[in-house]
Amino acid sequence: MNKDSETRYGTVTRLFHWGMAFLIGWQLLKVFDRIDDGEHWVGQTLVPWHVSIGSLLLLLVLLRIGWAMNQKHNRPAQDPAVAFLVKAGHGLLYAAMLLMPVTGILTMLGNGYGWKVFGIQLAAKGDEIPWMASLGSLHSPIAWTLLVLIVGHIGMALLHHFARKDDVLQRML
Ligand code: HEM
Ligand code: HEM
Repeated sequence: MNKDSETRYGTVTRLFHWGMAFLIGWQLLKVFDRIDDGEHWVGQTLVPWHVSIGSLLLLLVLLRIGWAMNQKHNRPAQDPAVAFLVKAGHGLLYAAMLLMPVTGILTMLGNGYGWKVFGIQLAAKGDEIPWMASLGSLHSPIAWTLLVLIVGHIGMALLHHFARKDDVLQRML
């Protein structure tokens, strides 16, 4: 039940999937900082958790990659006609989920802001480190790419469920 099978994703995969989807959705609210410099309810209540939740997501994605590798041969089969595309799409989602926290941390360290996670100071404020800051500047373009990937991903899931009426969404629920 905890493990995946040929017919559906198990509890661990589903917890990773929906828990991380929720947290990534929360992280994407950071774009609201573009409105009135974040001087509104979303900016003052939800967005201040950005660095802490983003850092937690780094740990979660590493565990999830380990779990996915462990369950590789156990998972539901993809339609052979599009299996390559599905693999590529999920691979890009994984790459973006990994690169987002990495570039976020590089932004903080590279600009000398320090790195504080749920009240614990992991790195003190310090000097700027230009190479880290320039790699960190990829954070925003990758965030927008991730958003596009997620919209496509959700679109495909809904297409399967409502148009093709197969069990693709069901096996992740
Ligand atoms: C999966 C994890 C993450 C997601 C999905 C995410 C998403 C975002 C988004 C959507 C923006 C706004 C971009 C824009 O307005 O163009 C942003 C900005 C920012 N994020 Fe993250 N983030 C994540 C992790 C982190 C982490 C771990 C840190 C720091 C340790 C961080 C630090 C920042 C900073 C400093 C900004 C503002 C500067 C900038 O846009 O480069 N983020 N993030
Ligand atoms: C932040 C948002 C999301 C991300 C990053 C994401 C990522 C992923 C990834 C990487 C997989 C491959 C399986 C795995 O390794 O876990 C997957 C599978 C799946 N996701 Fe998402 N997902 C997100 C949101 C959603 C939403 C909102 C839905 C439903 C509307 C959804 C429906 C599915 C389905 C049905 C599968 C199984 C696909 C299959 O086996 O062919 N996902 N997702």
